[in-house]
Amino acid sequence: MNKDIVCIGAGYIGGPTMAVIAKMNPDRKVIVVDINEKRIAAWNSADFDLPIYEPGLVDVVREVRGKNLFFSTDIEAAVKECDIIFVGVNTPTKMFGKGAGRASDLQYWESTARNIKAWANGPKIVVEKSTLPVRTAAAMEAILNAQDARSEVKVEGQGQQRNFTVLSNPEFLAEGTAIKDLMNPDRVLIGGPQDAQGQAAVDAVVEIYEGAAKNWVPREKILTTNVWSAELTKLAANAFLAQRVSSINAIAGLCEATGADVDEVAKVMGADHRIGPKFLKAGPGFGGSCFKKDVLNLVYLCESFGLHTAAEYWHEVIKMNDHQQERIVSRLFKAMFNTLANKKIAIFGFAFKADTGDTRETPAGTVVRLLHDEHVRLAITDPKALANAKKDLADLIEEDISTGGSDSRIFKQAPIEFTEDEYAAARDADAIVVMTDWCHYPTLDWARLYASMRKPALVFDTRNCLDSAALKGLGFKVLQTGK
Ligand code: UDX
Ligand code: ADP
Repeated sequence: MNKDIVCIGAGYIGGPTMAVIAKMNPDRKVIVVDINEKRIAAWNSADFDLPIYEPGLVDVVREVRGKNLFFSTDIEAAVKECDIIFVGVNTPTKMFGKGAGRASDLQYWESTARNIKAWANGPKIVVEKSTLPVRTAAAMEAILNAQDARSEVKVEGQGQQRNFTVLSNPEFLAEGTAIKDLMNPDRVLIGGPQDAQGQAAVDAVVEIYEGAAKNWVPREKILTTNVWSAELTKLAANAFLAQRVSSINAIAGLCEATGADVDEVAKVMGADHRIGPKFLKAGPGFGGSCFKKDVLNLVYLCESFGLHTAAEYWHEVIKMNDHQQERIVSRLFKAMFNTLANKKIAIFGFAFKADTGDTRETPAGTVVRLLHDEHVRLAITDPKALANAKKDLADLIEEDISTGGSDSRIFKQAPIEFTEDEYAAARDADAIVVMTDWCHYPTLDWARLYASMRKPALVFDTRNCLDSAALKGLGFKVLQTGK
């Protein structure tokens, strides 16, 4: 009989992954649970106003919600009902105590494990979906199978069995292309204990990814390893990708200094099949919930095993990334006559990349804060990320107490304007800084934008996504990355 599935955590990983699992396994019930009632209400909303924006996601949810995909806050009931429990709760970087600023904060994970143990009414397969430090699965197994009446069961013919088998099934989807990545993954990775019970659990999860009609992931793309290899692979894969971005950004600075063009350099380098063309786009630096967290995790792991040179090596990837945003501000300074105070700068795009409303670790956040410190008047525009931008920058905005908390706001320094209208953002601005490569930016009416700005009008295209020659033809002064 097919095993039903619960996923604890209805976020960027849990939501899309479970929607696609439900779509490809119509014979299984999939319940996604979360402690956040507002989030679950949004997943259940009648007009499909989902809590995250992801191209194609709403179509999949429309197809399966209420049929075999359900969203709920009743975690206990779902844990009791299902045999396979995916865990996709958040694991942010720890900001206190031992490992602060590097290690993952595992409190959500551990409390989830303890809840599972308290509520489970029989043997369960527990699958790590969140990115976690290596050996977390072992810690979870220790918590779940800690000796008590519930920790072992007798299965006829097989003797004593563990009640809980913990597997690692890291998610490799990228935001903005999550549905495409899930439907057609390069590979699915499932790590499990190397004993018979562990392998049976791995097989049970392999079946999910093959799909009910064996029409989803081809078996040869489902790779199985031991648990620790699976956990480390996720960190290593993200660290390699992040390192490529930092490497090309390091070359970009050199291109600016020497007159080389980073896009030309990347194109020719990428034509070497050993290097390949992907992840060689210079820009404002990487953002997103994974790269920084995972590299820092790797740094922490190296340090804790005494591998200090390796730790330093990976830490440089982060330092290079931070430097890239500082460089944006210094270049603006230089191009704007070494004073930014009271000038207006329009920030085009706040999401960490196009096609998402996610702003976690977005380079735009860092640049905005650096500019705000310089008393720049900022106007931020983004088609999907304005709500998150306002939350992220809440500390820069003070409620006007005198109006009793009405909409009117006062600002500590210069006002920050938030608008979906790019033309309103650019009005009277001295500069536009393109931070996210939203695909409609090149098609905006740049002559109209130019006409509405203060002169000399500057565009800093940190993503190299605009036609710089055309912009110069209109009269703009243009800065790009690595050119
Ligand atoms: C990443 C991994 O790709 C994915 O496998 C993992 O599961 C989660 O982390 P994500 O963070 O969603 O996915 O986006 P990704 O496309 O990898 O981009 C990360 C950041 O790097 C973005 O800020 C992006 O703009 C930047 N980037 C990417 C570059 O600056 N240049 C590039 O060439 C590629
Ligand atoms: P990710 O990008 O890893 O999916 P998110 O922050 O988008 O991360 O989602 C994680 C979700 O996990 C959040 O919606 C959060 O409310 C939920 N969560 C955290 N702790 C628990 C818990 N103990 N039980 C259930 N859900 C939890």
